[in-house]
Amino acid sequence: MTRTPLLTIDDLTAGTLVHTPAASGEWWRDAVIYQVYPRSFADGNGDGIGDLPGVTAKLDHLKQLGVDAVWLSPFYRSPQKDAGYDVADYRDIDPLFGTLADFDEMLAGAHERDLKIIVDLVPNHSSDQHVWFQEALAAAPGSAARERYMFRDGRGPAGDEPPNNWQSIFGGPAWTRLTPRSDDGPLGPQWYLHLFDTSQPDLNWENPEVRAELEDVLRFWLDRGVDGFRVDVAHGMIKAPGLPDWDGRAAMVEGTVDGPAANAAEPDDGSTGAGNQGPMFDQDGVHEIYRSWHGVLAEYPGDRCLVAEAWVEPLSRLARYVRPDEMHQAFNFSFLTAPWDAAKMRTVVDVSLGTMDAVGAPTTWVLSNHDVVRHASRFGLAEIGGRQLNGIAATDPQPDAELGLRRARAATLLMLGLPGSAYLYQGEELGLPDHTALPAEVRQDPSFFRTDGAEPGRDGCRVPLPWVGGAPGNGFGPTGKTWLPQPGVYADLAADRQYGVAGSTYEMYRTALELRRAEKIGTAGLAWVDALAASPDVVSFQVSGVVVVSNLGEAALTLPAEAEVLVASGDLTTSDGVRAVPSDTTVWLRA
Ligand code: NOJ
Ligand code: CA
Repeated sequence: MTRTPLLTIDDLTAGTLVHTPAASGEWWRDAVIYQVYPRSFADGNGDGIGDLPGVTAKLDHLKQLGVDAVWLSPFYRSPQKDAGYDVADYRDIDPLFGTLADFDEMLAGAHERDLKIIVDLVPNHSSDQHVWFQEALAAAPGSAARERYMFRDGRGPAGDEPPNNWQSIFGGPAWTRLTPRSDDGPLGPQWYLHLFDTSQPDLNWENPEVRAELEDVLRFWLDRGVDGFRVDVAHGMIKAPGLPDWDGRAAMVEGTVDGPAANAAEPDDGSTGAGNQGPMFDQDGVHEIYRSWHGVLAEYPGDRCLVAEAWVEPLSRLARYVRPDEMHQAFNFSFLTAPWDAAKMRTVVDVSLGTMDAVGAPTTWVLSNHDVVRHASRFGLAEIGGRQLNGIAATDPQPDAELGLRRARAATLLMLGLPGSAYLYQGEELGLPDHTALPAEVRQDPSFFRTDGAEPGRDGCRVPLPWVGGAPGNGFGPTGKTWLPQPGVYADLAADRQYGVAGSTYEMYRTALELRRAEKIGTAGLAWVDALAASPDVVSFQVSGVVVVSNLGEAALTLPAEAEVLVASGDLTTSDGVRAVPSDTTVWLRA
């Protein structure tokens, strides 16, 4: 293997500061937040579906891992047409997941361990089983009940064409027509808007009653003691006046890795181009809602926070969601969609820090969640653009598992070395890949059905976690049942096979999180290592007393003899007594 010339300690310690240390402040500014997807985390009662008692039972796993907070995807009462992102009652727990008492017990258990709890709020749409939508169906056009949603007459003389040409993010039209009734007007039954599934009607955020209701929901959970909210589709609640036609297709993830910046007027900032610039997204009116919510949270003691799920680019548009009187954090999907390329990684890190610093918000980092192919699989694909970001089918080219895990571990160590707040998705600490060959019969994601299978959907990243390798269901619950089948490799990757095992992915995460805390990396400044700042292969920066070196190239990178290795994502190589960082490996050094 070729090697690059020997780096010296002086090389590693000369740097250019691009992000100044944050004054210590609220807990969320540098928190590592672990996403629990309740139905797939741990099953307490043996029905094959994860639940809140399952979460409570595993709090020690999270504490030992070393995270600061837990964000739980929805557990509210729901017909589960979109895995709980279709809420029928915002103030109750679905029996599938337990009861309000189970929630309180989970929250108390987390707080006893000094773990914060963030819950998911889904304000853009409710379930069609929500009492409001049922009332709207029973009420007449133009009634107050219909005004809570986006009902419109159809186009054409008979009203039988949809009110506009918008497409649902899950595929198919974004409008559904009601069944005919005797009191329909001359244009026949009305249509309702659903940016997602037909079972997820969009709420009308121009209606003060809707605003008041959702603020009351915030208070309900704040009164119970939650530390924050992750806000679903935070860029979608306000639609452009007149609901104009738009020929684009709204996407949760566009995945155009090298595409042009979405808004040509903005400078190229390393964004992927998944800008979602249609009339249903990123309208100025959403910001007023967040200013109001900011005020609600500020009435409560402790530092409660709002996290925006907004697929908005470029980053300068995203930064508007985290201005000082709005939300506190926004997911950095530009980082998540960045390709495994040193120059592009540096650009996205640089621009993310600069853009968020300008509004005084922490930068966040994320590599996986319940909507995208896990990074251990994504980085094993020859190409990570296109729809493969959402899911992989058995008929698609399959990821190279070894390469994927190697790069995923390197990417994780790069990410955990960055200042700001980082999000982890359950199971990534075990190096889990997606299930990339799920049979059609077990798939549940509505996007699979609404595209007639053209999109495999997101089930592959939602497979139940393996806790005990080789046990029935790999220890997911007491009966071995799992709502989706686990791939064979999950036995070897189970938590119990990694605890205490040197070099395991779990131990790498634990060590990195411990160091991150001890070195106060989350609130540190960041300087690019000058000697490597233009390298086509290496990303390297100084943060606190640590130098992070990620080798994304082919050639091994030699290290100075004096450098102390604190943690590495893979084994270093040694030849002629000189240590080197091989391809697709990250190390944290003390220089
Ligand atoms: C974003 C959520 O993360 C996703 O899982 C869901 O399907 C949509 N929003 C609709 O609520
Ligand atoms: Ca269960």
